[in-house]
Amino acid sequence: QFDGVIAIDGPSGSGKSSVSRRLATELGAACLDTGAMYRAVTLAVMRSGVSLSDTATIMKVIEGTRFEFGTNPADRYTRIDDVLVDADIRGPEVTGQVSAVSAVPEVRKYLITAQREIIAAAEHGIVVEGRDIGEVVAPDADLKIYLTADPAERARRRSSQDGSDLAATAADIKRRDTADAKTTRPHDAAPGAVVVDTTHLDLDQVLTALHELIAHGG
Ligand code: C5P
Repeated sequence: QFDGVIAIDGPSGSGKSSVSRRLATELGAACLDTGAMYRAVTLAVMRSGVSLSDTATIMKVIEGTRFEFGTNPADRYTRIDDVLVDADIRGPEVTGQVSAVSAVPEVRKYLITAQREIIAAAEHGIVVEGRDIGEVVAPDADLKIYLTADPAERARRRSSQDGSDLAATAADIKRRDTADAKTTRPHDAAPGAVVVDTTHLDLDQVLTALHELIAHGG
């Protein structure tokens, strides 16, 4: 039985979510989507109407909200005050604001603490996906992966997944990579991470590569 921590970092559209979920399923482990956590907090802040420069009030809103993140790969969910918000947090409004909310240092501190608590509570191992997992959240992870792919391929995957316009998706990915680079390092692998370029690999091939790395201790 696997009981370690696997960190999967990478930019948007690199395939992190599909890969993490399937890897966790195959290992019998939990999985945590930290992007969903930043998205949920962003939605709560947007709904409250508080200005992004008012850090103290932002933190009051967050601390007064109940967030739940399901970590079963067969049933991942996000709830805000008992209501499922998975569709809302992936909509264009939240996607447009999430980089700005994620850049607030107090927000990061709050979520990193929450992420470490979830990781510590995992009983049968956990796959954690995000931007700063291998470097900041779980630097002692048993295996660190940096998933990447050419920007054009990332845009193609995103738009075929959600039916969005290819050119608009490519522009949005570029904008978010640039914005995120101010707080995390979406373009760089964490120290000790194995780089997996998925541009020419399908999901099965990526999983095969990861299982090999796990079997050989990274
Ligand atoms: O992975 P996803 O695209 O859902 O992430 C949404 C946003 O959350 C990213 O664009 C980034 O601003 C933020 N994020 C972060 N650190 C993480 C995960 C996500 O800052 N570990």
